[in-house]
Amino acid sequence: MTINLPLQAPSAAGLIWQTVRNENAKSPEEREAVLADPGFGNHFTDHMVDVCWSEKGGWHRPRVTPYGPIQLDPAAAVLHYAQEIFEGMKAYRHADGSIWTFRPEQNAARMQRSAKRLALPELPSDIFIESLKKLIAVDGDWVPSAPETSLYLRPFMFAKEAFLGVRPAKKVAFYVIASPAGAYFHGGVQPVSIWLSTNYARAGKGGTGAAKTGGNYASSLLPQAEAAEHGCQQVLFLDEGKYLEELGGMNVVLVYKDGTLVTPESDSILEGITRDSVLQLAKDRGHTVESRKVTIDEWREGAASGDIVGAFACGTAAVVTPIGRLLAEDFEIVHEGDAAAELALSLREELTGIQYGRVEDRHGWLLRLDA
Ligand code: PLP
Ligand code: COI
Repeated sequence: MTINLPLQAPSAAGLIWQTVRNENAKSPEEREAVLADPGFGNHFTDHMVDVCWSEKGGWHRPRVTPYGPIQLDPAAAVLHYAQEIFEGMKAYRHADGSIWTFRPEQNAARMQRSAKRLALPELPSDIFIESLKKLIAVDGDWVPSAPETSLYLRPFMFAKEAFLGVRPAKKVAFYVIASPAGAYFHGGVQPVSIWLSTNYARAGKGGTGAAKTGGNYASSLLPQAEAAEHGCQQVLFLDEGKYLEELGGMNVVLVYKDGTLVTPESDSILEGITRDSVLQLAKDRGHTVESRKVTIDEWREGAASGDIVGAFACGTAAVVTPIGRLLAEDFEIVHEGDAAAELALSLREELTGIQYGRVEDRHGWLLRLDA
């Protein structure tokens, strides 16, 4: 009798995980030295998650292995056609030592939307969440405990089939790596300067702007370098040369004099989980929140008339960071008043309060990873 094993696991429950411990894991002293000053994206933990997908076998062979190089065939489709997606989220240590993450089902759902756009297989949410727990089970000691530090989690998926024809790959890999993180911007939560990119666009109608895919970031590097040349930390992209979209790696929110918060509505930006959460907290406080098309002229004119008192950037890496200045080729907007920066910082304080377990999680946003 032949027994057909169900390789196409429909959920985490059907998968048997294997863990291979890293024999060369960092010593506690080496790890503590890294955690004392992690920076952002510079150091990685001792292990990683690795799950395979194939057209025939579905999701299979989930494992936790020592962190290290990935062997790829030089013809692997990702190296040629950039069929790749990723996510960004954080693990937070609470005062009692427990480890939590924030709205992971939102990251799982967004990764499924990105997968659809990039013709990659959709990873079931419970496998996505289980992979985070499995990694924390071996690398939990890497979650730092100093204020405002966290373990940045980077799930990613790519086409590994060796094939040069242009079509969706039939073999795909899903990985999770983790990197201890401090502030994304040097200088912590000081207001940042933003460069307005008018020569380059990040995304277009019908493109991949709403997906979290490497190509969007590759195309932002040149304008980001232009921003740096002008002394700015991030670049702001426009749609059709006039509508605000987002920054290279963050969403943007404008603050009006009456306390209204306005954020661009567009189907070519990444729907940020931080933005959604911060705007919910603002609504809870009674602020009016609008998601609508907003032009760069509205920002210029509003800043000049005093109707717009500031702006802030938000994202997993940046949390909530006030924007002090927008610099363009032929004009500049400077926000010097305290009101908008104070609002941004108090929303940041409330959001991080929830994430670190200091403030009641009244929306049920946290998920424990180490239990
Ligand atoms: N927009 C872009 C282009 C990003 O890279 C990010 C960061 O992930 C965001 C917005 C904010 O998304 P989130 O708040 O989910 O991190
Ligand atoms: C994140 O905030 O998770 C991102 O992916 C943005 C990047 C600037 C690190």
